[in-house]
Amino acid sequence: MTMMIRFLAGVASAQKTDVLALFVFQGTGTSLASLQGDKRLAFLPPILKEEKWTGKKDEWVAFRTLGKLKATRVGVLGLGEEKACTEDGLRVAAGKVMRKALEVKARSIVVTLPVVKDMAPETMAQALAEGFRLAAYRFHGYKKQDPKHPLTDVKEVIVCVLDRSVAEAFRTGFARADVLAQAVHLCRDLVNTPSADMTPQTMVEAAQALATEGSRITMNVMPAKTMEEMGMRAALAIGRGSQHAPVGVHMTYTPEGTSKKRIVIVGKAVTFDSGGLSLKPADSMMTMKCDMAGGATVIGLFKALSALKLPFEIHGIFLAVENMPSGTACRPGDVVVAKNGTSIEILNTDAEGRVTLADALAYASEQKPDVLIDLATLTGACVVALGEQIAAVLGNDRALTDALVTAGRETGDTLWELPLVKEYGDHIKSKIADVKNIGNRGEAGTITAALFLEKFVGKNIPWAHLDIAGPAYAEKESRPDQPVGGTGFGVRLLVRYLQALSTR
Ligand code: BES
Ligand code: MN
Ligand code: ZN
Repeated sequence: MTMMIRFLAGVASAQKTDVLALFVFQGTGTSLASLQGDKRLAFLPPILKEEKWTGKKDEWVAFRTLGKLKATRVGVLGLGEEKACTEDGLRVAAGKVMRKALEVKARSIVVTLPVVKDMAPETMAQALAEGFRLAAYRFHGYKKQDPKHPLTDVKEVIVCVLDRSVAEAFRTGFARADVLAQAVHLCRDLVNTPSADMTPQTMVEAAQALATEGSRITMNVMPAKTMEEMGMRAALAIGRGSQHAPVGVHMTYTPEGTSKKRIVIVGKAVTFDSGGLSLKPADSMMTMKCDMAGGATVIGLFKALSALKLPFEIHGIFLAVENMPSGTACRPGDVVVAKNGTSIEILNTDAEGRVTLADALAYASEQKPDVLIDLATLTGACVVALGEQIAAVLGNDRALTDALVTAGRETGDTLWELPLVKEYGDHIKSKIADVKNIGNRGEAGTITAALFLEKFVGKNIPWAHLDIAGPAYAEKESRPDQPVGGTGFGVRLLVRYLQALSTR
């Protein structure tokens, strides 16, 4: 899947292409001026008027040109009001055009739009290119190809802007988007791969593939035996019912110059969550191959890191396990001691993510991070509260939480803060251990899960927990740049957070 995205300073209608897409702001009128004065398009304004097209956000009309233009098809997409145009709005717009083009099996797209006031051209270009690339993603490795209806890919997108002075900035934006899309696509591939083929060991191999020469990434693999020696009894207990042994991964990115900060990112990596002996109902299990999405996000982030030159020492950690019921599985009522010495009463083996994260966070804290962030498909309660589009963020550091929320708004990986209510700590008090792994049924499940995690975060470490149970996996399509399946949620969010931090 190689798709070129190119910049062209010139008139779009002069190009031969399968789909010519015109991005037009609302309120600029359906006049020729709104089509950047392109005389070849003079036949369009009356048609747009007939079609009652007004330029509202996402409003799209398209038709064949029947030889009136060099393009086979022409489409007009409303962008809404220019002053309300955001980076994410452009990303979604580009995604929409890509999906429309794929529907008609187009191989080339030419797009034209005016330079948006109050937005850096680089930002604009990056958002557009991200939208195109993320929407063009497909996971079809497991499907027989139908020779009558072969899958076609868009090979080339040409973005035409009249203003030649933005050429360099556009190319920079395109290049950034390329790096990010590759990282997101890797994350999506890992999540979409069925659990039979995505075992803890497969995750290790995916991480290992990034630690190439010159990548500045090193790998430390912790096989089950090493985990045992290190005292990671909690994570091991969860993995004990599976044929696939648990394994830990610790990746480190070292910057070229001096490091400004040490950042540790932890991901939940349950390669399949059956619920264990507290078995899930059949329907709830159908998408549980996605339960390693946190770990996949860490891998996706590291794929981007070697190209980004960020001035931080960045650690990526996940403990990959499969949660299965069997004669060797851990039982409800068992007590295990995590790496930091805290004992956990496992009352529900389906609340397994927090138990594996206990060891991961304790180990992460030993790295003495300046910032600690974890991502986890942790609670169904979070999906109930915030749905498929939004992840929850909970943490102990105002500046960190705010910075993440901002990065989320910009990247479209949206976060909403939930409070880490200390008083609810009572819900996870155990009669026989330091903590139990469930709270009160139907009551603040996302918050009590985060309070559980907090017990394994070292003192005075700025920490944020992202519950990505909703947005990590799209069961239905709600954004054109997110096809059904693994979304890659969090990869671009983390990169944006790190980039903003590096300029502070
Ligand atoms: N992996 C699930 C959470 C989940 C649910 C992720 C839906 C993605 C979509 C997690 O391990 C889980 O099963 N959580 C339980 C916790 C409960 C037993 C306290 C849940 O939310 O039901
Ligand atoms: Mn579970
Ligand atoms: Zn789970």
